[in-house]
Amino acid sequence: MEEAFMQRTATCGSLRASDEGKTVILNGWVHRDRNHGALHFINLRDRYGLTQVVVDDDASEDLQKKASELKLEYCIAVKGTVRRRPQDMINADMLTGEIEVKAEKIEILSKCDVLPFMIDEENNAREDLRLKYRFLDLRCFGMQERIAMRHRIVKAIREFFYKTDFLEIETPTLIRSTPEGARDFLVPSRIYPGKFFALPQSPQLYKQLLMVSGFDKYFQIARCYRDEDPRGDRQLEFTQLDIEMSYVRRDDVLALIEDLFGYVFKSVLSVDLPAHFRRITFHDAMNTYGSDKPDLRFGIEIHDASSFASKSTFNAFTETLSEGGYVKYIVAPQKEGHDYTRKYLAELESAAKIYGAHGLAWMKAGNGTLTGGVSKFFQGMENEVLETTGAKDGDVILLVAHKDWKKCCTSMGAVRSRLGADLGLIREGFEFCWIIDFPLFEFNEDEGHWEAAHHMFSMPQAEYLDTLESDPGAVKGDLYDLVLNGYELASGSIRIHDVELQKRIFRICNIPDEVSKERFGFLLDAFRFSPPPHGGIAPGIDRLCMIIANEASIKEVIAFPKNTAALSPMDDCPSYVDDKQLEELHLAVVKPEE
Ligand code: AMO
Repeated sequence: MEEAFMQRTATCGSLRASDEGKTVILNGWVHRDRNHGALHFINLRDRYGLTQVVVDDDASEDLQKKASELKLEYCIAVKGTVRRRPQDMINADMLTGEIEVKAEKIEILSKCDVLPFMIDEENNAREDLRLKYRFLDLRCFGMQERIAMRHRIVKAIREFFYKTDFLEIETPTLIRSTPEGARDFLVPSRIYPGKFFALPQSPQLYKQLLMVSGFDKYFQIARCYRDEDPRGDRQLEFTQLDIEMSYVRRDDVLALIEDLFGYVFKSVLSVDLPAHFRRITFHDAMNTYGSDKPDLRFGIEIHDASSFASKSTFNAFTETLSEGGYVKYIVAPQKEGHDYTRKYLAELESAAKIYGAHGLAWMKAGNGTLTGGVSKFFQGMENEVLETTGAKDGDVILLVAHKDWKKCCTSMGAVRSRLGADLGLIREGFEFCWIIDFPLFEFNEDEGHWEAAHHMFSMPQAEYLDTLESDPGAVKGDLYDLVLNGYELASGSIRIHDVELQKRIFRICNIPDEVSKERFGFLLDAFRFSPPPHGGIAPGIDRLCMIIANEASIKEVIAFPKNTAALSPMDDCPSYVDDKQLEELHLAVVKPEE
């Protein structure tokens, strides 16, 4: 039998003034430990909060001795009596701030080694140290709160679906390798030498097959794996809320998601979302915000500058326009305490250049005219420029010229994002929008062929069916993204359910019939057997939690994430394996040269 320990009768967050006089047992960690002469104050912590435990100066010698043995993060049990704190000691910031527990007995349940960092709300430890000791990092209030919040979000999602006809169905995680965009993680087969399973990048094909099987409303909280470089909002393994529905059109999917997020935000955050989210076409989003995931919490917009840029004497503008290119501008607003110094303008230019801009032109509005930068090329047309742009004294007009529409838009978009952040223009709160009417194909410059902008199973809009092959670049798909606060939160589409159309798409994406048969034969087979029209979507759960928690890194909402180098410093993986394991898997490792 295990040795008995004093088992808790209350948690460290539960006691209130009304519990005065009760004898309780608390279990938890020593969060803070202070001595005031013979008085000993211990802040005891568990998931639920902190409780102040006091060893009075009249305590027995045994108890005093035990109290003096305590160190930070010792796991202890305390038996004692709840009493009100003296009026001047009440701590309104603490849930249990009205009371303290007068200790009668303390038991050390386990001791704690020297801590690599303090367990504290303000955890400033280096990220790798935090990840190496993640089990300790998770003890911090911030992590505890975020992980609990994630639980509440997932719970609310399930509650929502359990009230509907949706079935929660699991799909396999050892699947056929059918790269969807990113690289697959592969799992070697022991039984079949040279053969591999892949970990799913998403349950995409399985959920479509479930529609063929007649499960007309499916959802799953699914783990997905993509072998790509981690970023702030991206992990190697992540979780999607995966949804698929039969006999639906785009608007049915959008309406379901609006209802879902309305429910989740109301029940988890008591936030009322609008019944419908704004819809912006891909083309308008790029033109106005320079991004297909615009942050709508601030208002700076991009405009077309050609009406006045074409009349300037600036060659870079006039030539770009005469060659069919684009000149766009934004008005960077004057803000007290914020100077548009040359250094700052150079920083904005660097941001634009990352997206392909050759430069960032500027001119300042002041005293009813334009000065500095490229203003000398607009002599005599100052009023026209001021009127067209609406720039007021102190504002700066920023311009990019580029022959490529997308590069012109996205480099202006990068400047817009910098301004929003640097000028403190970003409002608090949640701004959702739908981005619709995406192009179905993108040209892969490196490989010299068209490929699916989302994935190959998305339906082209009906009006383009005859011109898929002749003008792939113009084809719009029945695709939609849900964007929240500047992040792509979800992606989805109405799917193709016709074998011939699916084959045409494969061919346009440079996948000949033999290859598509080999890779996607099971899907094409299934489509021979009366597939229903269907569509779906998949919001990223980690990303949702990250945005709600107002964190810039997805790692803050994942219990055991990988670091930016795609490693887990805690269990030190990936790791080498025994030769014997490799042998069983019929594998030999060719290490790259040092
Ligand atoms: P997509 O690839 O756009 O679509 O992914 C959908 C959503 O999943 C989240 N997400 C990620 N989150 C963290 N780390 C990653 N590496 C990562 N990659 C994606 C994002 C994204 O919006 N099968 C389709 C969905 C569909 O068509 O139904 C798919 O996976 O929030």
